[in-house]
Amino acid sequence: MVDSNVAAAPARAKRLRLGYGPWAVVTGASDGIGKAMAIELAAAGINLVLVARRQERLDALASGLKATYRVDTRVLALDLAQPAAAATIASETSALDVGLLAAIAGFGTSGNFVDCPRDGELEMIDVNCRAVVDLAHRFAARFAARRRGGLVLMSSLVAFQGVPRAATYAATKAFIQSFAEGLRLELGHLGVDVVASAPGPVRSGFEARADMQMSAAIDPATAARQTLAALGRRGTVRPGFLSKFLEASLAPLPRWGRSRIMAIVMGGMTRHQDGGKGRQERRPA
Ligand SMILES: NC(=O)c1ccc[n+]([C@@H]2O[C@H](COP(=O)([O-])OP(=O)(O)OC[C@H]3O[C@@H](n4cnc5c(N)ncnc54)[C@H](OP(=O)(O)O)[C@@H]3O)[C@@H](O)[C@H]2O)c1
Repeated sequence: MVDSNVAAAPARAKRLRLGYGPWAVVTGASDGIGKAMAIELAAAGINLVLVARRQERLDALASGLKATYRVDTRVLALDLAQPAAAATIASETSALDVGLLAAIAGFGTSGNFVDCPRDGELEMIDVNCRAVVDLAHRFAARFAARRRGGLVLMSSLVAFQGVPRAATYAATKAFIQSFAEGLRLELGHLGVDVVASAPGPVRSGFEARADMQMSAAIDPATAARQTLAALGRRGTVRPGFLSKFLEASLAPLPRWGRSRIMAIVMGGMTRHQDGGKGRQERRPA
């Protein structure tokens, strides 16, 4: 349900609406950070295209946003692991004046790499990286043509070094972090803002799907709000105490040293009931 307590401060709402409206595409809008970001954007008066696989959740969110914030919405129930998904999103939104792509959809796996099902690891690369590049390419071109727009890309605290027991997931997030840093400088002079959001643990559907046990998690609304506040102002934002703490404390270490520390941090989070075997479930489309 839509949290009607989300009250975008007028100045914040105006900045978002003028800079990144009148329409935004949010992937991963059926849960967690993507859903929270859709609510924040609707509260700012931005119309929304909501993308994820679970249609009923998207439909419920769309009706809630319409009723609460009087914004227009479209729902696209799509599997971003499918190669045609980004083209479908681009064509279904071609008549809309989209000013923001929030590419939030993604998932993680955890456990010993050799125990993680190979299909799940490859699907994660498709959703976390391939679909993001495909969408960013299509929408960045549109934003550059109108000389205004924004890209929100989901990195993570694991993006800044290799991470044992979440090796593929961390690598997908390192890809996004690097991609966002490069794009930001390339697109900035065309009027297109890019932010990489690198939160620590966030309370969402992520934990169950990745088979992790996370503590010190922040709520998705905080992650979404801090990410949108950074868009157009900073290249990377690190919502949550743990992400900021690790940035400061790991900065002096070489990459191999950071990986050793992350092995300890992630060790607790990726301790599975099944004795360490990787697990990754597909949700029904
Ligand atoms: N939670 C954390 O601790 C954390 C920390 C750092 C970064 N992140 C990143 O933040 C992003 C959002 O994660 P979250 O915490 O909000 O997790 P979440 O609650 O599980 O939400 C993930 C969203 O992605 C969508 N999604 C997953 N696979 C999809 C697919 N194949 N096609 C279309 N949509 C798909 C899900 O929708 P459907 O299942 O309905 O398709 C859902 O809306 C991810 O990129 C994640 O890597 C999360």
